[in-house]
Amino acid sequence: MKLTLIGTGYVGLVTGACFAEVGHQVMCVDNDAAKVKLLQSGGIPIYEPGLEELVKKNVAAGRLAFTTSTTEGVQKSDVIFIAVPTPPQPDGSVDLSFIERVARDIAAAMTTYKIVVDKSTVPVKTGEKVAETIKRYCPAKVEFDVVSNPEFLREGFAVGDLMKPDRIVIGVRSQRPVAAMKEIYTPFKAPIIVTDINSAELIKHAANSFLALKISYINAIANVCEAAGANVQEVAQGIGLDERIGRRFLNAGIGFGGSCFPKDLSAFIKIAGQIGYDFRLLKEVQRINADQMDWFVKKIIDTLWVLKDKKIGVLGLAFKQNTDDVRSSPAIDLCQRLQKEGATLRVHDPKAMDKTRSILKNVTYVDDMNAVADGCDALVVATEWDEFKKLDLERARKSLTHPIMFDGRNLFDRAEMERLGWIYKSVGR
Ligand code: UGA
Repeated sequence: MKLTLIGTGYVGLVTGACFAEVGHQVMCVDNDAAKVKLLQSGGIPIYEPGLEELVKKNVAAGRLAFTTSTTEGVQKSDVIFIAVPTPPQPDGSVDLSFIERVARDIAAAMTTYKIVVDKSTVPVKTGEKVAETIKRYCPAKVEFDVVSNPEFLREGFAVGDLMKPDRIVIGVRSQRPVAAMKEIYTPFKAPIIVTDINSAELIKHAANSFLALKISYINAIANVCEAAGANVQEVAQGIGLDERIGRRFLNAGIGFGGSCFPKDLSAFIKIAGQIGYDFRLLKEVQRINADQMDWFVKKIIDTLWVLKDKKIGVLGLAFKQNTDDVRSSPAIDLCQRLQKEGATLRVHDPKAMDKTRSILKNVTYVDDMNAVADGCDALVVATEWDEFKKLDLERARKSLTHPIMFDGRNLFDRAEMERLGWIYKSVGR
């Protein structure tokens, strides 16, 4: 099928590449001319495992192209996906102005029936507004359908999540676009559920909020474990084997971050409030997440006492492993708090250092993870990169003034670290 995606961020670009990979003819539109030029020349603006190969392969096969022209994108395809950002606003709601702008641009360019699909994460009832906007701003007055088709990919695993999705959600207000939407997704061999538009929009917010709730729950349990002398990883294993609970997303740490969970929680609480429900459960999820970082910083201060003039090595800047994304990263929040306390920092991340330089200043960026601890008073693990497990612990122990590690992601085995002579503090163990 001929498909257009408007917006080449994580969702738009990865979705476009995967649609092309299964044989669709895909046009990706972005108003950032420099980005389009980069993509046309085979460059990728983000780090996402497997994406570069997929884009190159499908561009070479003639199934994937990039343009800055929304008109071209709209006129060449039957189905137009909106995949533009919906950034947070200070009051917790989301800025829907990019969605509105794109809806108007699509409307202006439509001369035949189109299916306009919202893939961006939006509050419930946005689809209704998009439909109203397209109707109002379409001079050709052609027929169209609006569909909500939320995306569930995780950064760092986006290609795999897209090629093998758990489910496809299609929210519609009439049956007309259903066959085409099913045809697009048939090659992905996933269960497809068809709902009304409001339910589809709610599925996305409800799913992300539930996952965030799982993380806050295990972080709360971690606090109880610490007080009781228990081990949160064993508790997570013990409860996670119950299929109704599941082990995934039960890793205690310094809290969740990223461009989705914090924003989606706030947006869900906000929209729920606006339509008449005070979502206190989710407010508590937010509070536990904020407390988790306070508690970890306190743990560092309790051990090191005064941080002024102390040197701390930090492993990890990205909001999680396998990505260079640092938006709302707990690791960066932690670094800034340590700086506020007067500590000087040596930091390392396998992929996210370039994106951090403009945000985190007055720190030493260290290319080799094994050199981060050099001359420091303590080492902190802030992101769950697998490769940190291969850290040269002997070298780190010798290069620190005291062998102190604060493991905010429980990457190392506590008994083993203590056996090696570390003063080792982790989360809930
Ligand atoms: C999340 C969802 O997992 C995706 O399904 C969804 O499509 C996406 O948001 C989105 O709305 O676009 P993502 O933000 O890429 O994906 O990252 P996650 O893997 O969910 O991790 C989020 C945060 O939770 C990270 O900071 C991570 O370190 C933390 N986390 C995750 C934990 O602290 N513990 C866990 O057990 C799992």
